[in-house]
Amino acid sequence: MNRALPDVRLRVPSDEDAFAWHRIFDDPDVMKFHGGRAAELSVYEELTARQRRHDAERGFCLWTMLEESGEVIGFTGAQPWPREWGPEGEIEIGWRLGRAHWGKGYVTAAALATLERLRAAGVPRVVAMVMSADERSIAVTRRLGMEPAEVLTHPTLEEPAHCYRLDL
Ligand SMILES: CC(C)(COP(=O)(O)OP(=O)(O)OC[C@H]1O[C@@H](n2cnc3c(N)ncnc32)[C@H](O)[C@@H]1OP(=O)(O)O)[C@@H](O)C(=O)NCCC(=O)NCCS
Repeated sequence: MNRALPDVRLRVPSDEDAFAWHRIFDDPDVMKFHGGRAAELSVYEELTARQRRHDAERGFCLWTMLEESGEVIGFTGAQPWPREWGPEGEIEIGWRLGRAHWGKGYVTAAALATLERLRAAGVPRVVAMVMSADERSIAVTRRLGMEPAEVLTHPTLEEPAHCYRLDL
């Protein structure tokens, strides 16, 4: 890919970012691989608060992404795998982008910046869990040089989820 990556800014999610995430992710395309329905505001309040704790404890988290004008467009970053199934004990990289901003390379740019920050923090490897039908996320893992590893069944969605891995 020879196209220039877009400028994207990353910041630790603020209290207000919970409202922005709630608003921009309220879209069936965005939620297709997260149960299909918009999540409550309280989900994003808990998620953003948890990211502030990760930042304080580890120096990285799922960061709020802002485009050139300062508009919040989604999140990308890393956190300890948060569930009781799957790659427990690993650091996962994750992303979610408002529908209006797909197709411009924002998540690839933010994920590459995330990998640099994780290397600087001494994290040895990362995983990404991707639903097998989520072709856009699979394309992101490919652009990052991640390798497909084990396939698991998502316990509540009961669909295959693929674990991608990358040594840093
Ligand atoms: C997964 C998701 C983040 C991918 O978004 P995306 O815009 O396709 O990904 P990127 O930001 O990396 O951009 C890649 C796109 O920008 C284009 N692009 C433009 N310039 C580019 C550049 N310099 N580098 C890379 N891609 C570029 C690519 O061609 C590609 O578009 P295309 O597939 O239409 O050809 C988005 O679809 C999403 O949020 N989905 C919701 C579901 C979800 O959250 N999944 C994650 C669960 S793990």
